[in-house]
Amino acid sequence: SASETRTVRFLNGDRKFDANGKIGQTLLDVVVEHDLALDGFGACEGTLACCTCHVILGKEHFEREDKLNPAGEEELDLLDMAPELNDYSRLGCQIKITKKDPEVVEVVVPTINRDARNS
Ligand code: FES
Repeated sequence: SASETRTVRFLNGDRKFDANGKIGQTLLDVVVEHDLALDGFGACEGTLACCTCHVILGKEHFEREDKLNPAGEEELDLLDMAPELNDYSRLGCQIKITKKDPEVVEVVVPTINRDARNS
């Protein structure tokens, strides 16, 4: 799509939040801008210190990101501390909306989160 925005759909247990995100914004930016009721999400404000922004991407989304923007050491270390870690897990503060994303970008936010700074 040539549009500069995408719908980001956050699935959290049986709850679903749809929010408009702009190309270049991170998933954390979208949660903050729309004040989505995802308790504890993004506790360190994107400074790669907490892992509360853990999201599970769809397979294609993960593979796209893994080519363009693979997780670095710090992100991988934090993910190790995230509950419900999955093969397609990433940190939402590190994932930006790109032009390659489809109209609707769906991610799962686990219902349990943990702040790596408290463990
Ligand atoms: Fe803390 Fe992403 S918001 S690591």
